[in-house]
Amino acid sequence: MNLSDSFEKIPVQIFKSPSEGSISTAHEIAALIKEKQSRNENCVLGLATGSTPIKVYDELVRLHKEDGLSFKNVITFNLDEYYPIVKDSPNSYWYFMHKHLFNHVDINPENIHIPNGEWKKENIRKRCEEYENEIEAAGGIDLQLLGIGGNGHIGFNEPGSSLLSKTRLLVLENSTRIANSRDFLNLNQVPKLAVSMGLSTILKAKKIVLLAWGNKAQIVAKAVEGNITDQIPASYLQQHNDCTFVLDEIAASELNAF
Ligand code: F6R
Repeated sequence: MNLSDSFEKIPVQIFKSPSEGSISTAHEIAALIKEKQSRNENCVLGLATGSTPIKVYDELVRLHKEDGLSFKNVITFNLDEYYPIVKDSPNSYWYFMHKHLFNHVDINPENIHIPNGEWKKENIRKRCEEYENEIEAAGGIDLQLLGIGGNGHIGFNEPGSSLLSKTRLLVLENSTRIANSRDFLNLNQVPKLAVSMGLSTILKAKKIVLLAWGNKAQIVAKAVEGNITDQIPASYLQQHNDCTFVLDEIAASELNAF
């Protein structure tokens, strides 16, 4: 169901299952990569980690292996990374991205950008500035993929983050650490800090696709239908002129229109 013309402040596409929404999103990304290829241009993707986008990456890998989709013209920038964390840790987002996508496609490793959990603390400010500059030098992000935290965060921009925020070191909310502790041995192992693109970085993307499945219904409704507030960072997406929420029926269930 496409509710782009309805009264929501952000257009939503509703699918029967996460699988259908993921496949549709992967095909949209593939179409953009090919369109850019046909014009001899790079395709700059902003990528997310977490449980939500895994099936999108599965489908992109399938399209590469079975349909010959090439990633040679793709440049990627990931939203965030825990801090500190070594790249080889199974919990690093560097590890996640290579496991789910990069190890299986023909992307040039030099085109992969992920905030580095091994950056020296005294250099972080400079490294974050460089990350912003690298995005600009690549021509800006063509399509930014997002998930949403139960508290409304996008990237790791927790409630209270400024609309003007850029890539920076920040403190994770306890609710985020608890949600993400499922991937760790216990809560104590979850880093307390992360490096994340800021809200202004995200909002500069030419196109934004936020995915949400299952138990995200309440926060999705607040972000899509509520007032813009720094207490729900995803509500700032109402100010973007090309942002779509891709939802399954459960995540859409609290929307008035649904
Ligand atoms: C991950 C990220 C986060 C997640 C969000 C949802 O790179 O930026 O904003 O998208 O925490 O996580 P999942 O998908 O695990 O529910």
